[in-house]
Amino acid sequence: MRSLIDVLDLTVNEIDELIEVANDIIANPDKYSEKCKGKKLATLFYEPSTRTRLSFTAAMMELGGNVLGFSEASSSSAMKGESVADTAKMLSCYADIIAMRSPKEGAPFVAAKAASIPVINAGDGGHCHPTQTLGDLLTIKREVGRLNNLTVGFCGDLKYGRTVHSFINALSRYENIKIVLISPEELKLPNYVKYEVLDKNNMEYRETTSLEEAIPTLDVLYMTRIQQERFVDIDEYNRLKDSYILTLDKLANAKKSLAIMHPLPRVNEISVKVDEDERACYFKQALYGKYMRMALILKLLKEAEDKKKEERFSLDDVVINQYICTNPRCITSTEQELDHIFRCVDKEHNIFRCIYCEKRAN
Ligand code: CP
Repeated sequence: MRSLIDVLDLTVNEIDELIEVANDIIANPDKYSEKCKGKKLATLFYEPSTRTRLSFTAAMMELGGNVLGFSEASSSSAMKGESVADTAKMLSCYADIIAMRSPKEGAPFVAAKAASIPVINAGDGGHCHPTQTLGDLLTIKREVGRLNNLTVGFCGDLKYGRTVHSFINALSRYENIKIVLISPEELKLPNYVKYEVLDKNNMEYRETTSLEEAIPTLDVLYMTRIQQERFVDIDEYNRLKDSYILTLDKLANAKKSLAIMHPLPRVNEISVKVDEDERACYFKQALYGKYMRMALILKLLKEAEDKKKEERFSLDDVVINQYICTNPRCITSTEQELDHIFRCVDKEHNIFRCIYCEKRAN
């Protein structure tokens, strides 16, 4: 079953297609209003969220589908010790697709392995946040007009910032991208992203602690929050929390075409006065996230449907004329020329079922 755990699970072509669908949804919302009629999205959120959970909810509602789920671990059986894998198996009985957020890195991957429906990673700890990245790419495409030939500055918590890690991964596949990493020493981009993404893809990048120095060179400035919830030492958080505050003064030497982005929530790293600047894109960015989630839900549900059809018609795990179907109502009882085909549905218990009527072989 196709899931989305990491943004690199999608090819650049697939991302282009999602952007195209999202743009079409924006232009023709009515065309999509019943596309998911009868389908259910389960939102399993073990960590707080405003944008991601509610934009997934709005996305499914605008596609004509329904939503069920929980918004905190304390209202789920995780509190009784139920594992992520068991929860995902259960939700496969109740829904058609899952969006999961967890403070545990890798939790959506575990869910995807256990589920029989698609799982979307809606953010796992400090690891990655692929649907945020999809919204970020649509924002740049619409607001800047291109995804190649960009200088992108990331500012703030680059160590724990999952949105930054996913976004850098995505940008590594576009042409002539220059990255400027702006952070305090303590919150620098982890080495695994630096070496395995930036170096491996020969991307041009530099590190600085000065936002003012970097701003004039940038096409995109991606501000991030210093995330209190990721710190073990509260004194360190208090020391670093106001490292960068973007004000109108600091934008004096910025390009007129600069796109100011932020995955939100903001605490105080962007002055509210900047909201009025036409270069501020962060609220539009949250809206674009909803459209990309709509496009993604449509894509994964369609692929799941196609896969079901493929499985139904595939001849994997079948035996031909080894068993005879004894169901008098089965099509094999009247169509004399038909092969009696049985599929193994449970290898452990050696259970075979007729592919036409599903009667068990005996
Ligand atoms: N950008 C983002 O993930 O916001 P939420 O934490 O509110 O979902």
